[in-house]
Amino acid sequence: MNEPGVEAFEQLVARLNYPMFVVTTAAGDVTAGCLVGFASQTSIHPPRFLVGLSRRNHTFRVAADATHLAVHVFEREHLDVVELFGGQTGDAVNKFDRCSWHRGPERLPILDDAAAWFAGKILDRFSLGDHVGHLLEPVAGRPPHDLEQWVTFGDVRDLRPGHEA
Ligand SMILES: Cc1cc2nc3c(=O)[nH]c(=O)nc-3n(C[C@H](O)[C@H](O)[C@H](O)COP(=O)(O)O)c2cc1C
Repeated sequence: MNEPGVEAFEQLVARLNYPMFVVTTAAGDVTAGCLVGFASQTSIHPPRFLVGLSRRNHTFRVAADATHLAVHVFEREHLDVVELFGGQTGDAVNKFDRCSWHRGPERLPILDDAAAWFAGKILDRFSLGDHVGHLLEPVAGRPPHDLEQWVTFGDVRDLRPGHEA
């Protein structure tokens, strides 16, 4: 049985409706990407953002050989792309055959249906538990125009992840 604090924590985080991101990366010709909820700005000056990648994911393994990550935000009308990146694993399918994308800064795969994105240089990696934190310095990006209905945890909480966490 869980500690009381763990139960309270789990009930709280199950209800939080935080934004969801699709994080992509590339190492040589290999592209990868997955849905990420464990992500947050961590500093204003200098600007910093932390992305937690599960050690089990294909994206984590490709990111180990990468220098940059791209962080995308999606409007709900493109939930299909978000579900593709969260519900399938690059170990079994090529997600990039199933969506529209182009090579952006640092040859990162940029998803064309995203409402906004930024590219970040990986400054540091450290263990967060079963996820590994990737600390990013933003180096390029496209800001949103009228971002209103962006995809949040509530939109994907019933999605079965492509990889066990
Ligand atoms: C609601 C939700 C949140 C998720 N959050 C994360 C996350 O923060 N970090 C992560 O690495 N994977 C997260 N995942 C899991 C991956 O997106 C999923 O297992 C994906 O299929 C892995 O793809 P890959 O093996 O191609 O990297 C989440 C999945 C869902 C459904």
